[in-house]
Amino acid sequence: MIAVVLAGGKGLRLWPESRQTRPKQLCKFVNGKSMLDHTIDRLMTAGSSRVIIITNDSLLPGINELVQQRSDKEKIEILSEPEGKNTAPAVGLVLTRYYGEGEDEILGFFPADHHVLDTEAFIDSVQRACMAAQNGHLATIGISPSRPETGYGYIEKTKWEIGEIPGVFSVNSFCEKPDPETANSYLASGSHMWNAGIYISQAKTLCDQFKTHLPEIYEKLILGFDKYIDSYPLLPEISLDYGVAEKSDSMAVVPANFGWCDLGNWNALAEIYLPDLKNNVCNGNDVLLIDSNNCIIKQTEKTIVLFGVDNLLLVESEDLVLVADRNRAQDIREIVEFLQEKK
Ligand code: GDD
Ligand code: MG
Repeated sequence: MIAVVLAGGKGLRLWPESRQTRPKQLCKFVNGKSMLDHTIDRLMTAGSSRVIIITNDSLLPGINELVQQRSDKEKIEILSEPEGKNTAPAVGLVLTRYYGEGEDEILGFFPADHHVLDTEAFIDSVQRACMAAQNGHLATIGISPSRPETGYGYIEKTKWEIGEIPGVFSVNSFCEKPDPETANSYLASGSHMWNAGIYISQAKTLCDQFKTHLPEIYEKLILGFDKYIDSYPLLPEISLDYGVAEKSDSMAVVPANFGWCDLGNWNALAEIYLPDLKNNVCNGNDVLLIDSNNCIIKQTEKTIVLFGVDNLLLVESEDLVLVADRNRAQDIREIVEFLQEKK
């Protein structure tokens, strides 16, 4: 498998840790190492012969710097889109490499910003997905849902395992980011799983999917690669989840349990760091909490003391401190938008 890391997102909801030149994937939330470094390490441990990072021109300098600092940099290649157009065009740009001669190659597309606790279980799931990919499927990894999250895709699995591959199931339907009511019904159904955002398939399977479901990207980008600098800005801005997964009938799912978490907003820190007895979550050692409950704190340099407050989100970054209601963690991107408008 050639592992491709999708690393062109901005991660606005993790402001002020994530910034224009330091997107979420370059932020160091776990063990002083960036999310992207963790992702590459995991894929190298999984035995990937090569890792391709796909990002866009505005994030390129930061990603380049990270790769240059790695001892395995010769196994890593960076591709860059002229501008971010979401994941379908990014995947399409990678596919141009494998269209024709390389079409049997198995490509695995991985998000750059996920936390995985159990690397061995992760590798086992990826290997099963590769077997399904070899049989012509677009393989995904499904996580048992624990809440009616509306920020994820949902995979409805059937009861039937695919062919001879144990632990790989055929898929009835896929729904990206459902509304709250639908998410609740999926949680209750017992047959829906969260999409872990990982897609593994042979290059030719994905090319066929683009041809059928995203013909504009197929024709302008995959067939017309030599002109991609001109055509890229004209491509539709769409994710692989909406553009392909929701429409495809080639999907397979590997149900998995490897301690997965998408670090989508500050509340996700509670899934990575153990909360204390009063449900406070701290990233940073110099925090004193007195009569305070249910707070999330990211401490960097200064000592932070909280006294008699509940449900607070406090993030100390190099040049500013964010104090917010923890229940508004999903809306943090509004601050960035507000600040951009003010400029
Ligand atoms: N190269 C590139 N270009 N990468 C991108 C772009 C782009 O324009 N946009 C996003 N990415 C990268 C992000 O950096 C991230 O690693 C990955 O693609 C997924 O993008 P997100 O924006 O984080 O997607 P999401 O979290 O809303 O939804 C996806 O992940 C969920 C699980 O975390 C979907 O796949 C959902 O179905 C899934 O449940
Ligand atoms: Mg995400």
